[in-house]
Amino acid sequence: MSTNEQWSSRFGFILASAGSAIGLGALWKFPYMAGTNGGGAFFLVFLLFTFLVGAPMLLAEFVVGRHSKKDAVAAYEEISGSPKWRSLGYLGVIASFIILSFYSVIGGWVLTYLLRSFSGSLTGLESNVYGTLFESIIGDPATALLSQAAFLAITISVVQFGIQKGIEVASKYMMPSLFLLFIILVVRSLTLENSLEGVAFFLQPDFSKLTAEGVLDALGQSFFALSVGISLMVTYSSYLSKNANITGSVFSVVGLNIFISFLAGLAIFPAVFSFGFEPAGGPGLIFTVLPAVFNQMAFGNLFLATFMALLLFATLTSAFSLLEIIVATVTKGQGNRKKAAWISGFFIFILGIPSALSFGVLSDVSLMGRGIFDVMDFLASNLFMPIGALLISIFVSRKMKKDILQNEVMMGSKIGKVIFPAWFALIRYIVPAAITIVLITSLLSY
Ligand code: PFF
Repeated sequence: MSTNEQWSSRFGFILASAGSAIGLGALWKFPYMAGTNGGGAFFLVFLLFTFLVGAPMLLAEFVVGRHSKKDAVAAYEEISGSPKWRSLGYLGVIASFIILSFYSVIGGWVLTYLLRSFSGSLTGLESNVYGTLFESIIGDPATALLSQAAFLAITISVVQFGIQKGIEVASKYMMPSLFLLFIILVVRSLTLENSLEGVAFFLQPDFSKLTAEGVLDALGQSFFALSVGISLMVTYSSYLSKNANITGSVFSVVGLNIFISFLAGLAIFPAVFSFGFEPAGGPGLIFTVLPAVFNQMAFGNLFLATFMALLLFATLTSAFSLLEIIVATVTKGQGNRKKAAWISGFFIFILGIPSALSFGVLSDVSLMGRGIFDVMDFLASNLFMPIGALLISIFVSRKMKKDILQNEVMMGSKIGKVIFPAWFALIRYIVPAAITIVLITSLLSY
């Protein structure tokens, strides 16, 4: 079934894809992953994977979506003529379910911090209190579940109105404001005492700290941060007009994403060292470090509230995209969006309950040495996304005709001609080889 939604402009599409990509991945997950995996070394490997694997995958998904103009499940069947390939779309839908189930937990934390910043209760504290405060907030079952439910309810309410009205309008103003605030934050963080130690940690690679598992984390992060590997970008680009320049869009989305990850690192690590926090502090890193930085600024509480509001928007635009792919598949672009959005959202909430409680009452439950939340994240980012990407790269480079690919990549793009051969070589050889090697070596090292 052909989708009948359309982006109002290519700019709207770039904003929405960048909105899907930029979210907790760059702002929350990247700093703590870098913190636990040796800082600069992780950043470099992440960059390498983003250029060699993530970005080519993004273009591959755009090609499939724009060429077929179908949702993720129908697209692969239509192009290959074989129903077998539908499962690749379903893999993406299942992964979206899992991701949104734990993503909404963190979305709930952001919401809680936003509400708390209104009351002024997050500023004026001693730096070392923020860690304990964070643990008490996320460890409380009622807060965790209520905030997760509230975050999902906002997501559902926007998605039910459809692509154009909902997602596009919201993305347009929030992203530039977020960038601006981050730059202010970086400046404050860099002017703290001892900040250079943090800069060195983030920018001077120490490869002795990087394990095989860390390399898989970097690969997973390059997928997670660009929202690729689960065919979500197939659905998004299916709403795009035939003559839009998708190659240029890849550069914009990847560039913005790397830039914001870099800013996040530069805002956080100098402050971590200045305040004597632990860089390997885990998922709480930004929630404990940033309020302490804002504390050192004039109008700190106002800035903190603005930051949390923008972080919430960035998180929501990613959540919209995750729910959108599920709704698009369920309704095939035509059914009752509202019902589909609320029912899927309900099941996502149920699936997310153990993750939400894994920082409190269920914190003792572990599987393969990981807590429930980490297991869900590992499944999605380090297994589903790489495996999905491996299959998509095989599909695109071996099941689609080369002249169709070339046409899609070159459409409207001045540099498409130069990019095409390089991209084709990456997607046919380098991407599948890199994913297979990283997956096998890191899974063997368990
Ligand atoms: N890219 C989003 C982020 O970095 O926060 C998360 C995400 C959204 C991952 C959509 C995967 C996805 F399909």
